[in-house]
Amino acid sequence: MVKIAIVYHSGYGHTAVQAEAVRRGASEVDWTDVALISVEEYEQNWDVIDAADAIIFGSPTYFGSASAQFKAFLDATSGRWLEGRWSNKLAAGFTNSAGMSGDKLATLQQINHFAMQHGMIWVGLGLPPGNHTSAGSPADLNRLGSFLGAMSQADADVPPEVAPAGSDLETAEYLGRRVAEAAQRWLSNQREEAVAA
Ligand SMILES: Cc1cc2nc3c(=O)[nH]c(=O)nc-3n(C[C@H](O)[C@H](O)[C@H](O)COP(=O)(O)O)c2cc1C
Repeated sequence: MVKIAIVYHSGYGHTAVQAEAVRRGASEVDWTDVALISVEEYEQNWDVIDAADAIIFGSPTYFGSASAQFKAFLDATSGRWLEGRWSNKLAAGFTNSAGMSGDKLATLQQINHFAMQHGMIWVGLGLPPGNHTSAGSPADLNRLGSFLGAMSQADADVPPEVAPAGSDLETAEYLGRRVAEAAQRWLSNQREEAVAA
């Protein structure tokens, strides 16, 4: 069984909807066990996070970076960084904000730098940009044109029951599926290497 932990923060519920979509996508892959963990609960879930083969990190974009609550979780991992405990786990990221851009890329880069400092293996979105030609539409997968991770947009005055929605959630599902499939391949390679050794 491949184990995936999705650790996220959501102040107002929008990124939680995106996180749930990532969970749905990862759960579609056979032999995958997915834990969805809000940063409010990370302290009770260190065992689950440490045991994961892949960790998918998600935060809203607040002032062009991850939220303070999410950053507090990142900073709480310094002991694990010292031990190299998360080294060679797979990692990926997602973020939601109100602006179409809203500087979401900065948040994904922040998450990516964090994962690289932990010696993790980054799994990007792996999709071409959507809605970037005259034939495109906002219904396209990856309509916000990200490469590093999954982005979604929710109007600031709209509740999470309504937004994010549509292709942004399909894009989040895609990321979840992709990480689960990558983790399956990564683990089976490691098993083959162990048998050959
Ligand atoms: C403190 C704060 C800062 C924000 N900064 C940005 C920003 O830099 N870019 C942006 O597009 N939206 C920004 N927003 C809007 C949020 O990203 C947006 O409302 C998002 O849906 C919130 O996600 P959440 O419901 O998961 O907390 C900000 C909101 C707050 C509360």
